[in-house]
Amino acid sequence: GELNLNEIRDTLVHVANAAGEMMLSADPSVDTSESKKNSSDRVTATDKAVEAMVKACLTTAYPDFEFLGEESFKVGQKLSDSPTFVCDPIDGTLNFIHGFPNTAISLALTVAKKPVVGVVLNPFRQELYTAIKGQGAFLRKPNGSVHRLPTRQHPDPLTGLNGCLVAVEWGSERSGPNWDLRTDMTRKLMSAKSVGGAMCHSIRSSGSAALDFCYVAAGQMDLFWEGGCWIWDICAGWIILEEAGGLVASANPGDWEPSLEGRLYLAIRGAPSGQKQVVEELWQCMEGQK
Ligand code: IPD
Repeated sequence: GELNLNEIRDTLVHVANAAGEMMLSADPSVDTSESKKNSSDRVTATDKAVEAMVKACLTTAYPDFEFLGEESFKVGQKLSDSPTFVCDPIDGTLNFIHGFPNTAISLALTVAKKPVVGVVLNPFRQELYTAIKGQGAFLRKPNGSVHRLPTRQHPDPLTGLNGCLVAVEWGSERSGPNWDLRTDMTRKLMSAKSVGGAMCHSIRSSGSAALDFCYVAAGQMDLFWEGGCWIWDICAGWIILEEAGGLVASANPGDWEPSLEGRLYLAIRGAPSGQKQVVEELWQCMEGQK
């Protein structure tokens, strides 16, 4: 039958609040963090405990739905067409370990491999971002007030990369082709040589791709680019951004139809015009790389 997306959103918010309580009461300085791939790819006991709690709650509430989570992910596990919950228990694990309060739980529901509900909660700043397909995206601030996204109305349309504030993330790799791509792109975005002398205003790395998508959705950043993230990092942010008028493209030049199983994403805020031009300029930057 028809899915009740409002009820699912309410369930995800409820579970996210419980996860937020766990994050706030954890002391990550004593958390036994371990390395996954290398010393900057961390997982803490709280990541695992939060995911276990989220999985237990959601599979009890919706036993017919599938579940895909960062910590329980098995290599080769694929997103199916069935309704699937996608969970990043702590996006921004390094921030969490260091006590930098830009950390979130990111929960989404996909149907036919597309996100239809997204919930991103930063418990440290008490900011809750939510969206349901076709119903808009919202931010609930710490004082309880609710605002439709984007919250910031830009007076000018986007005219290109020139003048954009760009979110880039570093991931955990520190060598290899992916590292080269990230460092080269950083240089190009920050220099006047990117496209026809265009130069972005600056770049920011918040440490949480999920929150970056929300900041772009809110209109506080213009663009997000990352050369290699995972479905759980961006799934909830994707629908939040789309419902705020933003656009998700693949960071593979020429690909306007990104899939949730790609690894390269580019997201751009809602703009009356110039949105696609900025995407094309960013692609040109990437192609100039080779
Ligand atoms: C990471 C963060 C980071 C991004 C990485 C992600 P995690 O998620 O979003 O900003 O650069 O690619 O894996 O590991 O903290 O959940």
